[in-house]
Amino acid sequence: MAEGGVGTCPQVFVVDSQATHVSMPSEKKQRWMRGGQRFFLPLVGLVVFGLIVEGCFIYKLYKKTEVISLCRLHPLCQNLSNPSASGQQGGVLMSQVGPRGESNEIPVVQHHLDQIQQRPFAHLMGANKPVGESNVVLWVNEGGEAITHNMRYDTGRLLVEKEGYYYLYSKVQLNTADECLLIQHKVMKNTSAYGHSIELMKSKSFRCWTPKPPSQKGSGAEDLWNSFLAGIFHLQSGDKIFVTLENIQKIRPGSVDNFMGAFMIFP
Ligand SMILES: *[C@@H]1O[C@H](CO)[C@@H](O)[C@H](O)[C@H]1NC(C)=O
Ligand SMILES: *[C@@H]1O[C@H](CO)[C@@H](O)[C@H](O)[C@H]1NC(C)=O
Repeated sequence: MAEGGVGTCPQVFVVDSQATHVSMPSEKKQRWMRGGQRFFLPLVGLVVFGLIVEGCFIYKLYKKTEVISLCRLHPLCQNLSNPSASGQQGGVLMSQVGPRGESNEIPVVQHHLDQIQQRPFAHLMGANKPVGESNVVLWVNEGGEAITHNMRYDTGRLLVEKEGYYYLYSKVQLNTADECLLIQHKVMKNTSAYGHSIELMKSKSFRCWTPKPPSQKGSGAEDLWNSFLAGIFHLQSGDKIFVTLENIQKIRPGSVDNFMGAFMIFP
């Protein structure tokens, strides 16, 4: 009985104390709110100002990363992505692109554009008399669609003036309407480092002409064989690129049937 009485009394007390505790802070809060309204507007102003400043920083950072990502394409700037390997050079470049000012950012991009415009290329077309010495195919290097830019042409040879990676290609067409023939279409390189020619690409075929039935035989019986070669190669300044053709007399002349070309892809 006595224990039960002791037990109930504090319970009532506890409920009462909770009621007073709830009412007290609400009064305090209202007073605080009334006082706090004086500080509310300046606080909002401060937050808005902070957001504007933050926005400016983000915009500046975005502009910087844009320049650097454009710059990545450029070999000079590529050392930026690996500054430990490049040491001093990387440091100098970082300060050029970095906080020194916007005046230095544009020349880097401009220089990259200039470099793209200076990239060598050439497209040589089939000549009327394409048979050169030692099975070297001769080409037309100007007029029509033929063009050379920062590369030179000399009796079948395309002369490399700038070192870099080049995409090389060549296509030839032969008329093999004859006895049995071994045909080899090659793209060759002569470089000063070696005393002999280097094969870059080759296609080979052994053809024996099978006469067509009399009904299909025209006046000029032809059996055409086409070969196309293409690939990417590292070329040095002074290298000579040329095409050789075994049984070159069988080439079927034509400016669009036979061609060779090159263009630098890097740097
Ligand atoms: C880039 O760094 C490499 C070393 O990692 C160095 O050999 C090369 O010359 C540097 N290139 C430029 C353009 O600074
Ligand atoms: C390539 O080099 C070899 C060896 O130096 C030479 O005999 C050959 O005539 C050269 N070919 C061309 C097409 O320049």
